[in-house]
Amino acid sequence: MKTVNAGILGIGNVGTGTYRTLQLNREKILESTGIDLRITKILNRHPEKDRGIAIDKSVYVQDVDSIIKDPNIDIVVELIGGIEPATTYMAEAIKNGKHVVTANKAALAANGEMLQKLATENHVMLRFEASVGGGIPIINALTSALLSNDFTEVLGILNGTTNYILTKMTDFQQKYADVLKEAQAKGFAEADPTSDVEGIDVANKLSILMSLIFGVNVPPEEIPTQGITNINQVDIDYANRFGCKIKLLAAAKKIGDKVECDVQPALIDVNHPLASVNNEFNAIFVRGNAVDDIMFYGKGAGPLPTGSAVVGDMISIARNIDKDSAYDMKPLLRYDSDLEYVGEGVNQYYVRLSVDDRPGILGNISSTLGRYGIGIESMMQSIQSRNEDESVPLVFIFYETSREVLDEALQEITNRSFVKSVDSVIRVQK
Ligand SMILES: NC(=O)c1ccc[n+]([C@@H]2O[C@H](COP(=O)([O-])OP(=O)(O)OC[C@H]3O[C@@H](n4cnc5c(N)ncnc54)[C@H](OP(=O)(O)O)[C@@H]3O)[C@@H](O)[C@H]2O)c1
Repeated sequence: MKTVNAGILGIGNVGTGTYRTLQLNREKILESTGIDLRITKILNRHPEKDRGIAIDKSVYVQDVDSIIKDPNIDIVVELIGGIEPATTYMAEAIKNGKHVVTANKAALAANGEMLQKLATENHVMLRFEASVGGGIPIINALTSALLSNDFTEVLGILNGTTNYILTKMTDFQQKYADVLKEAQAKGFAEADPTSDVEGIDVANKLSILMSLIFGVNVPPEEIPTQGITNINQVDIDYANRFGCKIKLLAAAKKIGDKVECDVQPALIDVNHPLASVNNEFNAIFVRGNAVDDIMFYGKGAGPLPTGSAVVGDMISIARNIDKDSAYDMKPLLRYDSDLEYVGEGVNQYYVRLSVDDRPGILGNISSTLGRYGIGIESMMQSIQSRNEDESVPLVFIFYETSREVLDEALQEITNRSFVKSVDSVIRVQK
């Protein structure tokens, strides 16, 4: 039996979930691996706070150095979140020879390259399974079982809060603001939901995935990102009539020597496997040149699902400490490819306009679109849903075009007196 000691920084949702997972399964882990995994210290800046879990208070410390400099601690588990001081704590732990496990996508997306380099220089492992897809073992799969593949595409529903909101808006016609309140009450959404609903959290995760599968370092702020705050019932209903659902998608695709990437709501055919991923569930769909299409599905958040991923990383490190193997020190995050990353590529788009109700308008619009090389795949006009100003909605799905060309065409169309407004432009995922 080998004893491996870990110190946890932060005892919030994931910290308590990690502690509970180990409490639940410690015997089983010992039996199957021969490793006695112990949490010997926990950084808790408010030790008086009730964490809803029985933890022996003697493990609590308030000084981070007493964990990251403790010679008896092998693994430091960073679960405080945010870019700082988490990045500094992880860097210091690595410099002190500690292996690091983190669930922190914000810190990794911002500083993954520096942390990975530091870990390599110091011959320690940096593991981060919980940072993308919570309990879904996507990072393990991509970096071990699927290593034989060259990947061309990744597509994911990577945020449980926004997927929960969109599911309720689609299935129960609930209003965005009402569902957000409900999600906050149930603990699915943060008190400040900005990072979730504006797509920032998903951009962080996509940045990490792109490093793993394409070897590129794309700062999340350079990924074209749009959240779900503009999605409304009208577009959800039209999407439904086109046989689609609206989902917040993270997309990255390799085309030649370029990688296209974006985070935005998109119409997706109801028959696509991602369309049936509902509520707080996450899914990641990848296309490899050997395995073909493969989808991973599960709980992307929550104390225990995330704790499961964190403890999985701790066990994997503990096993490698046991083997003392140089091969397994190989970094997971890669920044070594020559691929150039570009933003949103060529896509199909859904566009909803409000126009006057008179003849000749459709012909005028389609000839303008034709001059920009934009073809119409489908069209719907519903005079029953007349707007207050007597204008009527005209809804299109266009064939593939670039967003730039589409915006130019829409700008020209908007200048026509019979066009009252461009109400929505949403990507269509094929
Ligand atoms: N929640 C999920 O389901 C989930 C899923 C996947 C990944 N993650 C990631 O996991 C990490 C933790 O998330 P969480 O949901 O557990 O957050 P949380 O509930 O807010 O917990 C964070 C904990 O860290 C402590 N903390 C914050 N700043 C600190 C500091 N400077 N020094 C010491 N302690 C500090 C907090 O202390 P106090 O409680 O005393 O304020 C709290 O206990 C984040 O990176 C998050 O993105 C979360």
